[in-house]
Amino acid sequence: MAILSISTPLRAHISSIAHHINVFVQSDIDSFIQQNKYFLLIYQSVEKILDKNCFVVIKNIGFNRNRAIFESFIKLFGRFYGVVEYTGIKVDCAYTGCSYNALTLHNDDAVDLNNPKYTFIQVLSEDPNGTNFGWNGVVRIDDVFEYLTLHDKALLDKLFNYHFPMLSYGVSAYSESREEIILREPIFTYHRGYLKVRFDLSRIKHFYFKKEIAMPDEEKLILDKFLSVCQQFRKRYYLSCGDILIVDNHRTLHDREETTLELDEDGRFISREILVSFAYEKN
Ligand SMILES: [Fe+2]
Repeated sequence: MAILSISTPLRAHISSIAHHINVFVQSDIDSFIQQNKYFLLIYQSVEKILDKNCFVVIKNIGFNRNRAIFESFIKLFGRFYGVVEYTGIKVDCAYTGCSYNALTLHNDDAVDLNNPKYTFIQVLSEDPNGTNFGWNGVVRIDDVFEYLTLHDKALLDKLFNYHFPMLSYGVSAYSESREEIILREPIFTYHRGYLKVRFDLSRIKHFYFKKEIAMPDEEKLILDKFLSVCQQFRKRYYLSCGDILIVDNHRTLHDREETTLELDEDGRFISREILVSFAYEKN
């Protein structure tokens, strides 16, 4: 299992540092964490696991609900995305991340040719209706590749050569520009010597919906076969409060199972809450 738990003494060091530097401005928190041996210990181990396994869950890290520390931690891994986003579940949100329905396997910012290398998710609060809900899933694309090399070379060939259209208004929910972006790229490519996956079914469907054209049967078949092979290699994790899931956004797909809502007396919804952000690859 790709789980790295932080020992009680190390967690105590991280907690106490987080508590003390919390009053600093962001740039000072960044430079402190970049030189702190305990944060570097965690970073170095996580980086090695990511390099081999492409994803990891960190448990008991010693900070939570702290955007500034989370941001500085992310900056250890590469160029920062620019924003740490809070996401809760809502009933009237157009953005897919807030939906109580399951999110299908995807890469983050798939319509961006230079999309982030790593995705970071920290759970602030768990699903109000228990541990049956809100599980995260991850598929390593090397596992899918290996399987297809052996069992379905024709599909593999299509994943490298068929250019799937994706449509989005702005790269993500956090983008300032809402301009139409259409990207036609294969699902599999090679990047810096590694297999890279680019896939977001909702963006592909959005293209056909907006352009009012039917998706070709050949394309439907490729997507259907691809997703069913991915399902065979999907690993699912329940993230407890404070856990951080890091995925290599170039070498994995991720999803989230359905979540629920609780309604309180002033009409407020209580739901699973997370912080999400990204790091671009180092040059
Ligand atoms: Fe995502």
